[in-house]
Amino acid sequence: MSEFVYGGDYNPEQWPESVWAEDVRLMREAHVNRVTVGVFSWSSLEPEEGRYDFGWLDRVMDLMHTNGIGVVLATPTASPPPWFTFAHPEALPVTADGVRLVHGSRDTYNPAAPAYRDAARRIAGALAERYGRHPALRMWHVHNEYGTVSYGPETDRAFRLWLAERYGTVAALNSTWNSAFWSQSYATFEHILAPQATQYLPNPAHLLDFKRFSADTLRDALREQVAVIRELSPGVPVTTNFMLPSWNHYDQWDFAAEIDEVSIDHYPSARDIEGETHVAFGADVARSFNQGRPWVLMEQATSLIYDYAAARLFAKDPGRLERNTLQYLARGATGSLFFQWRSPRVGAEFFHSPMVPHAGEDTRVFREIVALGHTLTSLAEIAEPPADGRRVNDARVAIVWDSIAWWAAETRALPSDDLAFLPAVRAVHRALWWQGVSCDVVRLDQDLSGYDLVLVPNKIAASDAEAETLRAFVTAGGHAAVWFFSGTTDENLSVRPGGFSGAFAPLAGIRVEEHHPLAAGETVQLSDGSLADAWAEDLQVTGAEVLATFTHAPLAGGPAITRNRLGAGTVHYLATRLDAAALGDHIGRILAEAGVTPEHPQAGDGVEIVRRYAGTRSYLFVFNHGESPRTVDLNGYDLLTDAQLSGDIELAPAASIVLREDALPDAPHHP
Ligand code: GAL
Repeated sequence: MSEFVYGGDYNPEQWPESVWAEDVRLMREAHVNRVTVGVFSWSSLEPEEGRYDFGWLDRVMDLMHTNGIGVVLATPTASPPPWFTFAHPEALPVTADGVRLVHGSRDTYNPAAPAYRDAARRIAGALAERYGRHPALRMWHVHNEYGTVSYGPETDRAFRLWLAERYGTVAALNSTWNSAFWSQSYATFEHILAPQATQYLPNPAHLLDFKRFSADTLRDALREQVAVIRELSPGVPVTTNFMLPSWNHYDQWDFAAEIDEVSIDHYPSARDIEGETHVAFGADVARSFNQGRPWVLMEQATSLIYDYAAARLFAKDPGRLERNTLQYLARGATGSLFFQWRSPRVGAEFFHSPMVPHAGEDTRVFREIVALGHTLTSLAEIAEPPADGRRVNDARVAIVWDSIAWWAAETRALPSDDLAFLPAVRAVHRALWWQGVSCDVVRLDQDLSGYDLVLVPNKIAASDAEAETLRAFVTAGGHAAVWFFSGTTDENLSVRPGGFSGAFAPLAGIRVEEHHPLAAGETVQLSDGSLADAWAEDLQVTGAEVLATFTHAPLAGGPAITRNRLGAGTVHYLATRLDAAALGDHIGRILAEAGVTPEHPQAGDGVEIVRRYAGTRSYLFVFNHGESPRTVDLNGYDLLTDAQLSGDIELAPAASIVLREDALPDAPHHP
């Protein structure tokens, strides 16, 4: 029998055992079937080096098992205890400014330090040995949100070894980095440091390699724990939770390849409908990293919305918790887990919204938690994996997601601060969302043949092989759009000669001679009336058709948006950053050309409609995120209200429907 997972991070070690009985009673009332235990419990599990205290965890595992609650067991390695840092001060993290941090919070370790890695492997092994076959165990959760970056002597040593392995000779490194610029040629690998604070601009290729190294270091740390767990606890799936979408200290695709299931933590920060677009984004990205299969929502907040700019923890409006959770389910989540079951009375994050609030069970939040548990139970049939190896959603559009591009945009010394990767990807995803079109993210070295349209925003660095993948996709009949500055350098940040955007310019039938970045806040109008900002360039067409031109000096009359036919497909090129309305219009045109329609003719404009496959059936998740009622033509059985629906159904603002479709699904788009 399939079921959605439901529960959250559970920290019984922070509470007297008298509270555990109440926890279990409330968990059962809320239909909780999963808890994540041990995420930061290192000092409770190993109070002194080599001395373990498993008594409390034995009792928790047994208690959960007796009550039919499965455990996601975490390794506690994201928070070494103070005894560790006293014993191994060299393993403390060092900032780019050379400050050595001390313990007192979490993540105080250098992932490149051997002492840390050994200690992490040992505690992971001890846990796997003791609980690897416990009947309550459902999944391993390695670490928490890998993302620690450290400089300092331990890092320098490891970085040099990594560089020697990558380049073979220091001459090869000097050549790739062009170290002769500002007289930084290295005589030996021993002279290379991690890029700590220096006098002026650092070398971009050095920075990029350091990001690669840091990502590989975290991947190796993950790999070591996964290996020991798989050996001692065979057959139990392993995950690690990605902090999405803002963390880029590792390569998500590489991480996904190390684990059995991708899980994410997701905290949208907008209180308005932008928050809903963000939920969709996190879910689409997570599913894509998991190769189109269902993925685990390891953390979301019950009622809190962080707004960093406002320095506030806002509360979610009533009902939003369920609506957002259904959105995640629509896009492939295996259920919902929360941070966290109960908040500590004191401790960092003591005002973070939990499942059982400080005010207790007689609260709106706990009532919503109980209701949501009930809802998930009633939707259990949708938790079944799709039959025939189908994807859980069948997107026809993909956005290129690439760590190298993201890291490249952070190397400084670029012609504008508006070349950032993530905001560009978000803008494109948002535009698709408003059009009612779902999408995946992909990298340009995978099979693209299941897609009709591939979008390439701000992919600064691109290899020849990646350019070739896109060419093959388009010539075979695919459609693509490439944004300014994409493909300007190769994968090592060397600018491609002969014109900017050089990796993709031949596909787009264009040549870019010079950049003309716009000032912060400056807006320009294109010949078709579109508004744009951030960027402009001196573009010539070498075969493309011009769809819109710049109208401002000195570029007036020069192409701004172009389209090129290539083989059986087309490549659009955008030489500027369109505002949301113009981007929506333009993406709408590209979708039409590519023959991509929304999942439902009435989707879009704040009505989100997503089809999820489960077993041999399909389900339509329908949401009205707008402020006025909307009518949608629906035929099927609404699992939320237990009613057969047919024809025009009115959806009130904030309403959701989960429809078992009458008709059997079409053949999947993806092979
Ligand atoms: C997550 C983290 C949790 C908790 C939560 C608060 O990113 O994994 O431990 O800190 O954020 O929002």
